[in-house]
Amino acid sequence: MDRIIIALDYNNREDALKLVENLSGVISFYKVGLELYTSVGPEIVRNLKAQGLKVFLDLKFFDIPNTVAKAGQAAASLGVDIFNLHLLAGREALVAAKEAAQEEAARHNRPAPKILGVTILTSSSGTEWRETGLDCAVPELVMRLTERAKEAGLDGVVASAQDAAAIKERFGQDFLVVSPGIRSNNVGAPFMAPAGRINPTPTNVDEGKGEEDDQKRTLSAKEAFAAGCDYIVVGRPVTRAPDPKKACLELLA
Ligand code: C5P
Repeated sequence: MDRIIIALDYNNREDALKLVENLSGVISFYKVGLELYTSVGPEIVRNLKAQGLKVFLDLKFFDIPNTVAKAGQAAASLGVDIFNLHLLAGREALVAAKEAAQEEAARHNRPAPKILGVTILTSSSGTEWRETGLDCAVPELVMRLTERAKEAGLDGVVASAQDAAAIKERFGQDFLVVSPGIRSNNVGAPFMAPAGRINPTPTNVDEGKGEEDDQKRTLSAKEAFAAGCDYIVVGRPVTRAPDPKKACLELLA
């Protein structure tokens, strides 16, 4: 279970900490993303670290090198275990973030955070990318961006579990692959796409029908680990389950 990272996608501290308490003894790694961080700020990270938990700060930095470096320094100062940035930010920004994070961690006498590059969001479809003028298949784009991450000395990438095997084969077993877009047919809210295939349905295709799943390149937890993922990130299949602890335990059952 130490390779499962639960996404604390809430807009308030109380709900986030309630889930952490509920999953106590089962899950020790949590992801603080845009919704929670924007709602409650860095204090939530300090709180989780004070409880001895691991934190993946998922803010997907995407800016000029100086700004990304300062954000990386701040993330290292908070003591996060992993943070990420967009590979489209460019090589200079990636290297600057890594150096700044390493220096800050050394100042605090602790190991540097792992830095992951974001390739292509698992909610993106090939059609969407072609529409922007990028005439390149998603798997190839993922590989090109991953190559940039490797060259810049990052620790790994966030990528669909469907790309994990190819990434490991090309960039080595030590290069981390962390995968969101995990789905199962057994757990979670009914709107979710089934695991194991590319879900071509566009987000909110029929607004009258209610919520659609925005993840399009999904696998089950077991399939993801079998494909070589080092960590999986799971949000709604657990946070929206009637019994989140049971949902976590069922992920690997
Ligand atoms: O609810 P669900 O299981 O789809 O949550 C996936 C989590 O992983 C969300 O918090 C989302 O922000 C995050 N994530 C993602 N794709 C990435 C990086 C992070 O879905 N490329």
